[in-house]
Amino acid sequence: MKKLLLLILLLVFSCSDSDSNQDCCSIDPENQPLTYQAQTSLKDLASFPVGNIVSANKIQINNQFISTLLNDFNSITAENDMKMRNMFIGPNEYDFSDGDVIVSFAKENGIRVFGHALIWHSSIPDWLQNFNGTDSEFEGLVENYIKSTVLHFSQEKMIINGQEVSVVSGWDVVNEAFTNQADNAIFRQRIGSDYVEKCFIWAREADSDVKLFYNDYGLETNSNKVNQVLNMIDYFRNNNIPIDGVGLQMHIDHINPLLQQIEDNLQLFINKDVLIHFSELDITVNRNSDISTLTFERAESQENRYRDIVNLYLNVPITNRFGITLWGMRDIDSWLLNHHNNPNEYPLLFNTNYETKISHRGFAEGLQ
Ligand code: G3I
Repeated sequence: MKKLLLLILLLVFSCSDSDSNQDCCSIDPENQPLTYQAQTSLKDLASFPVGNIVSANKIQINNQFISTLLNDFNSITAENDMKMRNMFIGPNEYDFSDGDVIVSFAKENGIRVFGHALIWHSSIPDWLQNFNGTDSEFEGLVENYIKSTVLHFSQEKMIINGQEVSVVSGWDVVNEAFTNQADNAIFRQRIGSDYVEKCFIWAREADSDVKLFYNDYGLETNSNKVNQVLNMIDYFRNNNIPIDGVGLQMHIDHINPLLQQIEDNLQLFINKDVLIHFSELDITVNRNSDISTLTFERAESQENRYRDIVNLYLNVPITNRFGITLWGMRDIDSWLLNHHNNPNEYPLLFNTNYETKISHRGFAEGLQ
């Protein structure tokens, strides 16, 4: 009894100076735990790399972020710093400085970097969008950009398990091509409908080893899009166009889509014998904005969902497992708060104080 009282006092005390709008507290209003003490780190439990997103800025200044990152993760993706808009600053002019910071950090800590993303219609620099040269000049600029970027980031090496490997192990070459926005974007308009395959060829010409991915959202549910991606893989293979893997972004909800549907779609990619990356995993619990603080009921549902999704990933044959990457560390860091205009969304594994939510336990259990 004394112990229980002490525990409650400790919990209340540890929450007293935190932001009341967030899931600061490790218990919900009914005194049920929203956090837990993790015993083992995710990367140690996993048979594949477990990743999270970073920025050059965070890994230079935020010690709590860094220690959380290095404790649980062994793969990092730049949330924004290695996108076209950030790197391609003018015709044949590049700024790789943020990416370089990320690569040095990874090398120092012996973890891999995944490159995201060379071509995406939502990350076009203004000068390129407004480029008024010919289509063939435009194509030349994009070709040089892909080759220069992939080559630049192929140069840092590290030793992993006695083998020399590039710190940057793979790239999302093209992101989200099967959408109306992509159809209307300058890449298709100016290079032509074969722009996707050209981008993969250019990337391969710059680095013969790096893994080349196509990345998209909705591949868990949208059978139209799934078919387009599957057909693309077949077409690439039949025409000697390089592709190593597919990124299923996995921005999903704690309830939808049904696990069976995700499993069925995943199987279609497994059947193609490509590398599979759950590349941007997060799980919303408040899409209807009906809670204003994380409740135990939602936290537990999210924990179960993380366990199911991670467990599902084990259906992927071991040699095809590229890894699972979380799209954010703490709930308050998530892109979803802005995107859904909802400050009360809790999609990730850590709360505001970098405490491990029970969703983290779900992830850990799914690995076992
Ligand atoms: O850096 C500027 C800052 O200077 C400015 O003051 C501020 C004002 O809004 O904007 C800042 O840039 C924002 C940037 O994130 C960095 O925070 C952009 O507006 C904002 O659009 C950008 O959002 C990113 C989004 O991609 C678009 O690039 C999100 O952080 C990032 O999580 C999100 O990630 C994407 C994946 O790349 C692809 N799949 C979907 C996923 C979610 O949209």
